[in-house]
Amino acid sequence: MKQYDVIIIGAGAAGLFCAAQLGQNGLSVLLLDNGKKIGRKILMSGGGYCNFTNLDVSPNHYLCQNRHFVKSALSRYTNWDFIALVASYGIAYHEKELGQLFCDESSQQIVDLLQAECEKGKVDIQLRQAVLSIEKFTNDKSANFFQVQTACDSFQTENLVIATGGLSMPGLGASPLGYKIAEQFDIPIVPIRASLVPFTWKEFDKPFAALSGISLPVSVTNREKTFVNQMLFTHRGLSGPAILQISNYWDMGETVEIDLLPSESIYDILQELRQSSPKLQLKTVLSRHFPKKLVELWFEQKQLEDKAIAQLSKANMDFLVNFIHHWQFLPNGTEGYRTAEVTMGGVDTNYISSKTMEVKNTQGLYFIGEVLDVTGWLGGYNFQWAWSSAYACAMGI
Ligand code: FDA
Repeated sequence: MKQYDVIIIGAGAAGLFCAAQLGQNGLSVLLLDNGKKIGRKILMSGGGYCNFTNLDVSPNHYLCQNRHFVKSALSRYTNWDFIALVASYGIAYHEKELGQLFCDESSQQIVDLLQAECEKGKVDIQLRQAVLSIEKFTNDKSANFFQVQTACDSFQTENLVIATGGLSMPGLGASPLGYKIAEQFDIPIVPIRASLVPFTWKEFDKPFAALSGISLPVSVTNREKTFVNQMLFTHRGLSGPAILQISNYWDMGETVEIDLLPSESIYDILQELRQSSPKLQLKTVLSRHFPKKLVELWFEQKQLEDKAIAQLSKANMDFLVNFIHHWQFLPNGTEGYRTAEVTMGGVDTNYISSKTMEVKNTQGLYFIGEVLDVTGWLGGYNFQWAWSSAYACAMGI
């Protein structure tokens, strides 16, 4: 049976980075993945340009039931550390918006960087190795060792790192193995669900599907948070960064409030024009501030009635303010794991050391990356968690 100092399951962002650090520290490392390629999500990420971190990273950008959990790892391997690594490989990058850093050329550059780092550490990467089961034994010195079973091989180690990610994008190798291993070792799972995910239409909102492809800046609010960014109409519902962000904080059955004109007041606009151009039609005014197709749909659907703005009553004005600034949108649900960027919830961090990512009651077993109950905002935060948690783990072994 082949033995290694460390075995890591999952050659995604967290597994690759952890393997590289451990290998470079002189340990023998086996990295197993069920796919044909390493870093498949990295390749897909950021529209092919990988939003690999953010200029502004703090624990407030993460959701976790144990809200102090992320602090230690994020402070020991920061966004600036990863930016320096990217720069050391001569990879050109740019800030798109809100501190989000993307490769100038392609996500492949980040995968190449991680592969090169693994090569430096002589990591043994074995692909097409779906891990089927894990068993823990105790040797005659009372130390734990783990046996890892794949379809055709069996391996042993004293240090087993689970970096199997979440359930989003099943086509990219996602599997529930990490959660099953947690359960096997009596670690609770914080309920999981698809997140950073588009909302779907209820039947009565389906006419909006005709606007698919149209986007506009909005402010989206629920009982916890407000996000100001672009919103995109799709065939199935609402998407775009503002919607994906609020989906992290959304519960099934909850209404979100959408301000369709967050930087101006429709009341002030109309009041001013009522003085200067009272004969203007409402539709004309709205068309100056919103995508034309959206305005047309409002009138076609009889949600609004066209008239000269001088004729708008107080009740009409109040209605318009509500209509534009306080759209109460009730999603039917979300598009689910098929299109979600992340999985909310996961391995309960109360059972994990925040310094080393080791399971508190099982020496030698570690969980890193998205499989943990740590979910970042949209904007490079999930990769930063992968890098930081991987580093903390590698330094702890
Ligand atoms: P990850 O999911 O990357 O890796 C887990 C690995 O484990 C996979 O390779 C899988 O094949 C393997 N595995 C699972 N079960 C196994 C088994 N039984 N046996 C063997 N191997 C197994 N984040 C961000 O910060 N910036 C961005 O731009 C984006 N963009 C983005 C786009 C898209 C389309 C998605 C789906 C996601 C993003 N994300 C993102 C989120 C980000 O990709 C995600 O949070 C990290 O990849 C998580 O890294 P992990 O290494 O934890 O899991």
